[in-house]
Amino acid sequence: MFATNTFCVTAILSLGTTLLDKQIITDVNAVVIMDAVVYFSQVAVYDFVSVPSYGKAIVAARNIFNIIKRKPPINNQSTDGDKIPNCTGHVDFKDVYFVYPTRRDSIILKKFNFTIKSGQKVALVGSSGSGKSTMIQLIERFYDPDFGQIFIDSKDIRSLDLQWYRSQISIVSQEPALFDTSIRENIAYGDNSRQDIPLEEIIEAAKNANIHDFIQQLPDGYETSCGAKGLRLSGGQKQRIAIARALLRNPKILLLDEATSALDSESEKIVQEALERAQENRTSITIAHRLSTVQNCDVIYVMHNGMIVEYGTHADLLARSGYYYRLIQGKLK
Ligand SMILES: Nc1ncnc2c1ncn2[C@@H]1O[C@H](COP(=O)(O)OP(=O)(O)O)[C@@H](O)[C@H]1O
Ligand SMILES: [Mg+2]
Repeated sequence: MFATNTFCVTAILSLGTTLLDKQIITDVNAVVIMDAVVYFSQVAVYDFVSVPSYGKAIVAARNIFNIIKRKPPINNQSTDGDKIPNCTGHVDFKDVYFVYPTRRDSIILKKFNFTIKSGQKVALVGSSGSGKSTMIQLIERFYDPDFGQIFIDSKDIRSLDLQWYRSQISIVSQEPALFDTSIRENIAYGDNSRQDIPLEEIIEAAKNANIHDFIQQLPDGYETSCGAKGLRLSGGQKQRIAIARALLRNPKILLLDEATSALDSESEKIVQEALERAQENRTSITIAHRLSTVQNCDVIYVMHNGMIVEYGTHADLLARSGYYYRLIQGKLK
């Protein structure tokens, strides 16, 4: 590129000298032409150097516009559809098959049948990758089943007003997402359909999540900042704030996906107490890595390769000496 630039300058110099000699142009014109050629050849060189970046920029812009234009199959702003008056939180999966849109060749849920009666405490256990979190995502309607149906109180969830439906559900997962705002605002985020939630309601949720006494001891109380990603709090404190947030909307269905898995045994005990209180008077589904935390559930469902292979109480399943027994022994991979 720079050789081309030098070549242009050299060529114009020799042509200019000849034209000057023959008095075809004046010396002033020669200088003006020379300046113009040097300037434009430099611009052309820089443009050529940037050509590969133009290609990349066009590809990147096309990807961004495709994402902006993409219409997700599930419109999460939708308020079309039915609401269930006095929803009780009875959940039914009927012959559900599911594959992720990005991995069509691998069936994640196969003829998945599952029932939770209203107010029941149900646990879902199984080896890693068996499809437990996927099942929770289907309840939240982040995806729809490829075949089969999911019902809440005998209504197919696809027929429900999505905004209303999601307001009936809360989830606490392994890593809570706290924002760099006050503890009060972080808990209030649990019900973003309402502005200015009274402090008494936030305190009530915090008490039920076993975190009120700790918050009260802080110099700024509920106005204390959590720090970026909740950095100023321990794992157990963050998780109890996440539980308070989940309780604020008084959900009919509470989903707990490995909520205590990232905690040490001391914090796990306190968080577990908070979770047990949170599960009262509502339907709950607990996914737990440590099987000791689900022994008191009403029904334990055991998943293996996307199917329910056993269910019953802890004592029933132990007596059966099957999948659950082998999970407890750590022999099921
Ligand atoms: N977003 C996704 N896209 C494609 N495959 C996924 C996605 N999420 C999970 N999977 C796959 O689905 C299977 C079940 O995953 P998951 O439901 O997270 O299992 P579990 O919670 O029981 O450990 C795994 O094989 C996993 O790799
Ligand atoms: Mg999981």
